[in-house]
Amino acid sequence: SDNPLVLFMPSGKRGRFPRGTTILDAARQLGVYVESVCGGRATCGRCQIEVQEGHFAKHKISSSPDHISPVGAKEARYAEKRALPSGRRLSCSATIEGDLVVDVPQDAVINAQVVRKDADTRVIERHPAVHLCYVEVEEPDMHKPLGDLDRLKTALQKDWGFGRIEADAHLLSQVQAILREGNWTVTAALHQDADDDIARLIALWPGLKNEAYGLACDIGSTTIAMHLVSLLSGRVVTSAGASNPQIRFGEDLMSRVSYVMMNPDGREAMTRAVRQEISKLVQKVTDDGGIERSDILDAVFVANPIMHHLFLGIDPTELGGAPFALAVSGAVKLRADDLKLKLNPGARTYLLPCIAGHVGADAAAVTLSEGPHRQDEMMLIVDVGTNAEIVLGNRARVVAASSPTGPAFEGAEISSGQRAAPGAIERVRIDRETLAPRFRVIGSELWSDEPGFPGSLGQAGVTGICGSGIIEVIAEMYLAGIISEDGVVDGALAVRNPRIVAEGRTFSYVLSEAEPRITITQNDVRAIQLAKAALYAGTKLLMEKQGVETVDTIRFAGAFGSFIDPQYAMVLGLIPDCDLDRVSAVGNAAGTGARMALLNRNHRREIEETVRRIEKIETALESRFQEHFVHAMALPNKVDPFPKLAE
Ligand code: FES
Repeated sequence: SDNPLVLFMPSGKRGRFPRGTTILDAARQLGVYVESVCGGRATCGRCQIEVQEGHFAKHKISSSPDHISPVGAKEARYAEKRALPSGRRLSCSATIEGDLVVDVPQDAVINAQVVRKDADTRVIERHPAVHLCYVEVEEPDMHKPLGDLDRLKTALQKDWGFGRIEADAHLLSQVQAILREGNWTVTAALHQDADDDIARLIALWPGLKNEAYGLACDIGSTTIAMHLVSLLSGRVVTSAGASNPQIRFGEDLMSRVSYVMMNPDGREAMTRAVRQEISKLVQKVTDDGGIERSDILDAVFVANPIMHHLFLGIDPTELGGAPFALAVSGAVKLRADDLKLKLNPGARTYLLPCIAGHVGADAAAVTLSEGPHRQDEMMLIVDVGTNAEIVLGNRARVVAASSPTGPAFEGAEISSGQRAAPGAIERVRIDRETLAPRFRVIGSELWSDEPGFPGSLGQAGVTGICGSGIIEVIAEMYLAGIISEDGVVDGALAVRNPRIVAEGRTFSYVLSEAEPRITITQNDVRAIQLAKAALYAGTKLLMEKQGVETVDTIRFAGAFGSFIDPQYAMVLGLIPDCDLDRVSAVGNAAGTGARMALLNRNHRREIEETVRRIEKIETALESRFQEHFVHAMALPNKVDPFPKLAE
């Protein structure tokens, strides 16, 4: 046909449309999400697009801003009143008059937050579960005695194409006043997930309302992180974090489960504590963002299984031991009210599904963010905490497990270990001849042998060693010949080098002589060997299930992963052999996954389907685990080769 061709970016969807079709209509027909609140009246300004100029050889399109209709009266009025950025057009007004490449602008801020070392330029395409719809409602008529709410529903169905609509109970008493206040024009918020037949009318405002917000929240056992996000532009308005107050009931997850088992009101106390802290964070982000709680219509939460259960008010005792039965594993959809969260009275919440009894919704969110199931390469995702959560897979098949690494990687169980904080040693080099160390601490730019060290830290100086520092010092000790393949500190060196000192029947390496003296003891080396062997054995089991000898890419999720040097992780045999430039840290991928689920209901369906498909491997039940574990105690491994390390 000779209808013009229209290509939408970044989705790449394309189609031919008769001249005179609005760009918004074309987007709708192709399933390209373009926001609109006013329903094409050129008043909300939410439907902005940009037309690219030039010849796109790959797509055989010559696009030009001249190929759309000139600015009409309504659009000009909007541009004058609300200042339309140059180059932008309202897609509800501009019509197709020739071939076009149309950019649906994605918010710059949100994309900047996902840009990482590997220069991921992915954008989160929007299609939120909550949608704002402006309508003009027919005035009441004695001859057609249809109720106000019924006429509102009719208008929403007619203008916005909804099927069945159910109104939240709290709106029944308000609908008449709001319709009259808005002089028969209102903005309705409708909530509809990808697999819902019914749209729920959850909020209503008089006149035009063209902003609504959502929360993306990651409930970690140590910290809680929250983003306030515009549901319409996708922009992260502001973020906040706090310590998880449940720490006072138990430092790690298992001690919190024990607390519940031993205290009759333990579960209630912990549920209350985490909900109160979340409520404080809501207060903080709404204050910082200059918005009202009632502007928040949706909230997505991710958490490990125990945090997930406690947040929902579920006793986590069953998760304390085999068979680690979850009360609920699928996605949980509730009203914010049900969780005692004060947002808009109609606000909804969504918790991502849990993968297994100890591979939670946080791991599901990381999976959604990194997308092993969206590509062909074999991707390994490792999230190291007290338990390491491991996901391995590609488009064809995804497997997951958790491995009991213990807290050594977080600096616990290490003689001079500490959390990553200013003063903690994070980088270490050891001279191969003299065995003298150089190191760097968090909070200072200087190496320990540079003049002025510790620089900005001043008197406070060096306080201990954090997880990434431990990984490096042990790898360097191995490379310098201070420890053997079996992880034994070589006592024979003590006679000729003062850095190696006897401590009882074993030997230690003196990393820093100044107070506090920091040594790496034989026990420290053992603790790291045990932790890394557990991680590697879990990974190896998953690789066996997949029938692969190597992986294509490795992603480290979480804080720990952001600081460790992949090369040292591989020297120790923490991760399998892989091209070093295919190993990357992905920071707070769980938070990114939560934002994806908040901004696009199709991502919710995607992760629900993916989690149903993921094969869960219970490491404790696999006889091969022990064997892999024993081999992985050696540095880097008793049996597995690391050819990429040699390169
Ligand atoms: Fe509201 Fe275009 S849809 S201005």
